[in-house]
Amino acid sequence: MSKPILEMRGISKSFAGVQALKNVSFRCQAGLVYGLVGENGAGKSTLMKILAGVYKADAGDIIYKGMPRLSASTGEIIASGISIIYQELALVPQMSVAENIFLGREPRTSMGLLDLGRLYARSDELLSRLGVALDTRSLVSQLTIAQQQLVEIAKALSQDADLIVMDEPSAILAGSELDQLFDIIAALKAQGVTIIYISHRLEEVFRIADEVTVLKDGEVVDSRPIGQLNRHTLVRLMVGRSLDEIFPQTDHEQGDLALIADDIATDTILDGVSLRLHAGEILGIAGMVGSGRTELARALFGADPLTRGEVRLAGATPQWKTPSQAIRAGVALVPEDRKSQGLFTALSVRINVTIPILSRLSRLGIVRRQTEEQVVEDARQRLSIVMTSPEQETQYLSGGNQQKVVLAKWLETAPAVIILDEPTRGVDVGAKFEIYKLMRQLNDRGIAIIMISSELPEVIGMSDRILVMNDGRVAGELLRENADEERIIELATLGGAEAQSA
Ligand SMILES: Nc1ncnc2c1ncn2[C@@H]1O[C@H](COP(=O)(O)OP(=O)(O)OP(=O)(O)O)[C@@H](O)[C@H]1O
Ligand SMILES: [Mg+2]
Repeated sequence: MSKPILEMRGISKSFAGVQALKNVSFRCQAGLVYGLVGENGAGKSTLMKILAGVYKADAGDIIYKGMPRLSASTGEIIASGISIIYQELALVPQMSVAENIFLGREPRTSMGLLDLGRLYARSDELLSRLGVALDTRSLVSQLTIAQQQLVEIAKALSQDADLIVMDEPSAILAGSELDQLFDIIAALKAQGVTIIYISHRLEEVFRIADEVTVLKDGEVVDSRPIGQLNRHTLVRLMVGRSLDEIFPQTDHEQGDLALIADDIATDTILDGVSLRLHAGEILGIAGMVGSGRTELARALFGADPLTRGEVRLAGATPQWKTPSQAIRAGVALVPEDRKSQGLFTALSVRINVTIPILSRLSRLGIVRRQTEEQVVEDARQRLSIVMTSPEQETQYLSGGNQQKVVLAKWLETAPAVIILDEPTRGVDVGAKFEIYKLMRQLNDRGIAIIMISSELPEVIGMSDRILVMNDGRVAGELLRENADEERIIELATLGGAEAQSA
């Protein structure tokens, strides 16, 4: 066996009140792909942030390329050949794509001046290697989060690392972008680069990993070559029990018409979308990144103005032009970008969960604390949210647990129509099942759901009907019985008319 490129030995780390890692050991050989999996809050990101020098371990050693690593700054660690693509995107919104990629390492002229020509040329080259069509001069603030994710990947590649950590890089990518990512991983591996790949999508782990390490509650449960694992054993190692049925069965009845959109268009990308949504129904929205799925959600919710067409509740005239009017009318949107749109990260879990229902919880202007605590406790149990206390600031929750808090918040408003944009992004298998069950319970209460998702098995498993978007329009509508991945991808990539003749 060749010598390991990285050995982490006996790593422990506590944050005020939480032991995030207990005596974790993890080793990697050069040129292999390592899957790192585990439930939300298991400690995956923390272990990788210790490797990157963002956190200092309380105990344990890191041996990298045969040398013990003593204290080192994040810059020195990058220079030593380790790059990380963080789960929370960490780009500077006011800077261009190219400036972000080479931040702190900008190419300079012989006079020491910023060499803009080379900056853009090298960025363009990197993005074309990634197969991404993006203007490297545009500001990051103008990009969708999937595009931002691709910029993060390009940034890590530009560092010419020997070891690349990818913390849920695929959470917001779909279809062809995902294939591109896997091609890149294969190419890096062929060059001898080591990859540590964190994902909640187990099929990806089976597709690319050579070895898998499972973390649970801050400890290593097991590390095994991929050949010794199947989906069933891996899930059991992660959650400690078997999950037989991922998608809960339902026998709910589809109710009356709930929401109607007629020929809506926006300045963003939507160009004449019509849909009908019924009480107790889940309407899935599939499509590639950039096809207009998120823009559709925003338009239905009043977040982007309509340039044409109308949205209304069945039997009513259009009632909302802004999100706050939409909420009052009974429409909720759980956005995909929880960091900037879904959460007040500096505020506690309690405040985040109860903010939309404060008026319901208060009497004569005073919030009834006991009721409030009960609401938070119910949400914690229902969604299995891992937190130290209701007072914990949401910025310190693991990524998946932040997502659960956003969901809990909107579910408390008991809307008639709820739009979920990537509801299980970054959520572990056990919690996914909880969210699916919750969606069905909402259906049983007559609530209509629109679910946007990049995970085709989820779209097919959960939706009663599926709209496939392409280039700002509906390319096709499929009933659950007739939907399969191939048909959806065909519509999403070719569009309606072409797919028919293909
Ligand atoms: N800066 C911090 N301060 C306090 N607690 C933290 C901090 N960072 C992480 N934690 C806690 O440490 C534990 C492990 O978190 P971590 O982010 O490593 O989980 P994870 O396995 O990456 O989960 P996910 O799949 O949801 O991303 C969690 O309980 C989390 O709340
Ligand atoms: Mg994480």
